[in-house]
Amino acid sequence: VGGYLYLYQGCWCLSMSFQGLIFFQRHFQAHDTDVIIITPPKSGTTWLKALAFAIANRMHHPLSQSLLLTSNPHDLVPCFEFDIYHENPFPNLENIHSPRIFSTHTPYALLPSSIKDSKCKIVYLCRNPLDTLVSYWHFIGKLRPETVEAISLDQLVDMFCRGLTAYGPFWDHVLGYWKATQEMPNKVLFLQYEDMKVEIVSHVKTLADFMGCPFSLDEEKQGMVEEIASFCSFDNLKDLEVNKTGKLHTGKQNNNILFRKGEVGDWANYLTPTMVERMEKLMEEKLEGSGFTFKRS
Ligand code: A3P
Repeated sequence: VGGYLYLYQGCWCLSMSFQGLIFFQRHFQAHDTDVIIITPPKSGTTWLKALAFAIANRMHHPLSQSLLLTSNPHDLVPCFEFDIYHENPFPNLENIHSPRIFSTHTPYALLPSSIKDSKCKIVYLCRNPLDTLVSYWHFIGKLRPETVEAISLDQLVDMFCRGLTAYGPFWDHVLGYWKATQEMPNKVLFLQYEDMKVEIVSHVKTLADFMGCPFSLDEEKQGMVEEIASFCSFDNLKDLEVNKTGKLHTGKQNNNILFRKGEVGDWANYLTPTMVERMEKLMEEKLEGSGFTFKRS
């Protein structure tokens, strides 16, 4: 799965980000104005980061020449366990202008208490498990070409169903934030990839309001909301020079591995009816009584 998995506090953590996760959990001090983007891997993190960054920085950098043109969204919105705390237990995060925007894949139960106790905001994004799994499978193949030969889709489905995916069990991840948003709708904004694909403009407005950066009437009249939505669209981000040819901060892979197809329902091209049935039956069982359902097409 792109690394070893360690079971830590009920979560299957990736070996490559494990130390970062522990440092993050122990040392991060949230500010009330922080915005934390949280996703299971391959749910549209890159998209949400681009949107949040564009929303928060639209005053400083008029969108068309924004930093997004020259940096991939992951460099602009760093991930706690992969980037910030990866090797440094005490990074200096105090000089970043607010709202500071960070990201993580950490499940709710494992978040540092300062995130839970402060007034900072959590934006959670998930995606139906079938597309998430297919996206993940392609991604690990690009990250580590030798892994994909070693892991068939059949095996990955089996691992998924046993809870064994990065930051899994997947259903615990989603249900943790689903419960949190029910209890604290002002703290946790819960988004689904499929809804954003259907209609992005209202999501951009909701996100801006939630982040404490609402659009003024003038901005709305000038078409700023639509501009941000289309700037961050799959086709536009994918075709930016930085995302076509730039390198990820790992230095090894190209930014283009962050962009594959960007569609809902691609699972149908890869998963057999047996795999789909197994995953759906399991999800039904796990989500029963929660009031939450995924959208698969
Ligand atoms: P696919 O592999 O299905 O194409 P993450 O950013 O969490 O790693 O998620 C990656 C998935 O989001 C990939 O899905 C990728 O193509 C898709 N994606 C990236 N940018 C996007 C955008 N601007 N709009 C929609 N989907 C996007």
